[in-house]
Amino acid sequence: MDIKEVVKEKYGQAALRVHSGGSSCCGSAPSSQCGPDPITHNLYAAGETSVLPQEAVLASLGCGNPTALAKLNPGETVLDLGSGGGIDVLLSARRVGPTGKAYGLDMTDEMLALARENQRKSGIGNVEFLKGEIENIPLPDDSVDVIISNCVINLSADKDRVLREAFRVLKPGGRFAVSDVVVHGDVPAELQRSLELWVGCIAGALKDSEYMEKLGRAGFENIDIEPTRVYNIEDARQFLSGQGFDVDSLVPQVADKFMSAFVRAEKPHAR
Ligand SMILES: C[S@@+](CC[C@H](N)C(=O)[O-])C[C@H]1O[C@@H](n2cnc3c(N)ncnc32)[C@H](O)[C@@H]1O
Repeated sequence: MDIKEVVKEKYGQAALRVHSGGSSCCGSAPSSQCGPDPITHNLYAAGETSVLPQEAVLASLGCGNPTALAKLNPGETVLDLGSGGGIDVLLSARRVGPTGKAYGLDMTDEMLALARENQRKSGIGNVEFLKGEIENIPLPDDSVDVIISNCVINLSADKDRVLREAFRVLKPGGRFAVSDVVVHGDVPAELQRSLELWVGCIAGALKDSEYMEKLGRAGFENIDIEPTRVYNIEDARQFLSGQGFDVDSLVPQVADKFMSAFVRAEKPHAR
């Protein structure tokens, strides 16, 4: 089955769960085990999200807090790749102020509907949610100051293309400031074949060294990857349970190798 269709279906369901008042249990945990997810829980300080609609906060399925880590200046244009329920777009829009603009890009209709409703409830005007794929960004060359993204690039089956597109739409000197799950070291090949683990942001995660290479190949410079949360043995058990794996033998091979990280890079200034 096409990974993109599986991802769309899974995140469409997650958006509807928020709509119907349920919690959004997505991340890595199997949907039968709704509960705190080691990847998505506790990413934002209460003070930060108190200004946002509850549904935007409930729909958060990221693995970091890119707007807290990225430098955003008044008047800048920000693009969030895979904006989901819109939490980081709304937070960015407040940071860049009325003279700036925040775009969210997502391919899943249910997520876009949720994000647009969240924008309406928030009353924040300098926001636009676009329908499209991060492999083919519907914005012109050199039009964005900062690209953020929260746990989405790992879901793409063509990461080189995503990074090339990110480079294309950034202005010279523009910043790439993304939270993502990355792997440090080698993990068992059987994990990478699991579609469930792919949509849970695990199986599609790049090695940190590979991520840096791909960013370099796309043209970026000043590349850096900073771990923000390393997943331990208990977290690994939670990712793997209920998915048909021999959990006891795999957990020690996975613990402390997956991490959420803040990935930064810059498009070179024009000469
Ligand atoms: C893990 S959720 C993260 C959502 C949001 N960034 C957050 O922090 O809550 C992944 C989101 O990315 C979107 N997505 C995944 N792959 C995509 C692609 N190739 N193009 C556009 N959107 C994509 C999904 O529809 C979903 O809304």
